Amino acid sequence: MRQPSSTLSLTSTASFQALETHAIDAEDWQMRDLFAADPQRFERLSVEGAGLFLDYSKNRLNGRTLELLAALARERGVEQRRDAMFEGERINNTENRAVLHTALRAPRGAQLVVDGQDVNADVHAVLDRIRTFTDAVRSGEWLGHTGKPITDIVNIGIGGSDLGPKMVVLALRHYAHPRLRMHFVSNVDGHDMDAALGQVNPETTLFIVASKTFTTAETMMNAQTARAWFLGHAPEEALAKHFVAVSTNTEAIKTFGIDPANMFPFWDWVGGRYSVWSAIGLPVALAVGFGYFSDFLAGAHAMDEHFRTAPIEQNMPMILALVGFWNREFLDAHSVTIAPYHQDLNRFPAYLQQLDMESNGKSVTRDGDPVDTPTCPAIWGEPGTNGQHAYFQLLHQGTDLTPIDFIAALRPAHEMEHHHTALLANCFAQSEAFMKGKTIIEVRADLQAQGLPPEEVERLAPHKTFPGNRPSNTILMERLTPSTLGALIALYEHKTFVQGVIWNVNSFDQWGVELGKVLAKKIEAELAGEPQPNLHDSSTNGLIARAKAAF
Ligand code: F6P
Repeated sequence: MRQPSSTLSLTSTASFQALETHAIDAEDWQMRDLFAADPQRFERLSVEGAGLFLDYSKNRLNGRTLELLAALARERGVEQRRDAMFEGERINNTENRAVLHTALRAPRGAQLVVDGQDVNADVHAVLDRIRTFTDAVRSGEWLGHTGKPITDIVNIGIGGSDLGPKMVVLALRHYAHPRLRMHFVSNVDGHDMDAALGQVNPETTLFIVASKTFTTAETMMNAQTARAWFLGHAPEEALAKHFVAVSTNTEAIKTFGIDPANMFPFWDWVGGRYSVWSAIGLPVALAVGFGYFSDFLAGAHAMDEHFRTAPIEQNMPMILALVGFWNREFLDAHSVTIAPYHQDLNRFPAYLQQLDMESNGKSVTRDGDPVDTPTCPAIWGEPGTNGQHAYFQLLHQGTDLTPIDFIAALRPAHEMEHHHTALLANCFAQSEAFMKGKTIIEVRADLQAQGLPPEEVERLAPHKTFPGNRPSNTILMERLTPSTLGALIALYEHKTFVQGVIWNVNSFDQWGVELGKVLAKKIEAELAGEPQPNLHDSSTNGLIARAKAAF
C-alpha cells in the first residue's frame, strides 16, 4: 500500500508546529480588520467547482494560514491517500477493504480493475437493472399482485441505508413522480412502522429492504413485521411483486424469502454512509427517475474530478477540510452547525451527522495509537431561517465558538420570488452578523440615538453587544438540482476524507457502534424473559425492573 509521506504523530510534524506558532499570532485577529485591510479578500478566499461556489473568506485566517494548512495536507500525504482511494487500494485497514464510492458515479467505460474485477462493468450492470426496474414501476407496467400499479414505496433501512435516500428524496421532491409516495421506516420503535403501514395499501405498496449486511437488528425486525403485515393481506406468492432487497448478502436475502431476482446488489467496498450512489439509492431512482438519478451521480463525479485534479489551494473539499481543521484545532470549535437555507435540504444536517461523525469520531490512529489532538467536532443544524429563531442566540452570544456552514441556492424551485429574496437576505445577513458582530461602542451609540437615559444605555449595552469574529463558510449553487445535490454531498464526503487523513484515523470503519448493539441483545432477552441482575449495575437493573413491571 502507498503510505502517506508522514506517519509521525500529528503534533510532531513540522507543518503542525508551524501552524501552532502561527495560531498564537492569529489569536488577536479580528475579521473586520482582515476585510478592511484587503478589498480583494472575497475574491481571494473563494473557490468554484462542479457547479458549487464556496466563500470561506469569513474565517479567522489569512493567506499565510492557508499556505501552512496546505503544507500540512502535503506532509500528511493527503494527495497520495486520495489517489490510493480512487485506485481501489485497501485504505480501510481495520476491515481490509477498498473504499470505492467514487467508482459508483464514474461514467460507463471508466477503467477500474480491482483484484481482477472490472468494477466499472459491475457498477453499470447494476445501474442497468435499476433503470429497467424503476422504469417499470414508474410507468405502471410493474403491477401489484391484484393487477394495480404501485402507489407507495416503503424503504426499510437504517443509518446509511436510510439517511441518504431519505435526504435526497426530500431534497429532490420537485423532480418526483406524482403517483409515487415515498415512506422511510428506520427506527426499531414500532411507532415508525405503525405510521407507515397506516398510510399504505398492501395491493399497491412496494417494500424495499435495504441493508448492506442484512443483519442489522432494527431493519430485520422491521422487514419481518412488514412481511407479516403483507401476508396478512395477500398470499405468499404475491411477495415477489411487493418485496425487493438491496444488499451485499445474497444468502441472507434468500433466507428472508426474497427472490434473488428481486435483489439489487452492491459491494463491501461501499461504506454504509457512502452508499446512496449504489443500489441503496433505489428509492431516489424510483422517485425522480433514472435520468435524474444519473444526473445526481454525474454531479458527484464532477466533484470527484475536481477533488482528484485541482491543486490543494484551489480544491474545494481540501479547503473546506483545512478550514474546518483550523477551527477545530486552533479555535477550539467543538461543534459545527450546518445551516441549509433551503427547506428541501431539511435532512441534510442529519445526513452529515452520520457521514462526518461515524467517519471521524475516532480517538485512535490507523495504527491504534491514541490521537494527540481533538478529532471530529459534533455536527448539527436545522434549515434557516428556523434555526435563527431557536439556537442562533447561542451562536451569536454564547461562550463557545461554533463555526457555521451556510448553504443556499440562488434561484428557487417555486414562483414566490419575494420569499426567496427574504431567505437569501437572511442567509447573507447572518454570515455578516457573525463576522462583524456589534461593538459596545456601536450599541451605546444606537441606544443614545433612541434617546435612552445614560444609566439605561449602560445597563443594556452589554446585553446588546455581539462579539462577532465568528467563522462561517457559505456554499452557493445556482439551483438545487440532482447534479448540484450530488456535488454537494461529494464535497462533504471528500472534506471528511481529508480531515481523516490529517488526523490519521480510519474514516471507514465504525466499531464504536458495536458495544451498544451487543448489550441491547442481552437486555432484550431479559425484558422478554428472566432478568440477569449479575450482568449489570444497579441503574441498569433498576431500569429493566421498571420496564418489566409496566409490561
Ligand atoms: O451500525 C452502524 C451501521 O453499520 C452504519 O454504518 C450503517 O449505515 C447502518 O448501520 C446500517 O447498516 P446495514 O446497511 O448493514 O443495515
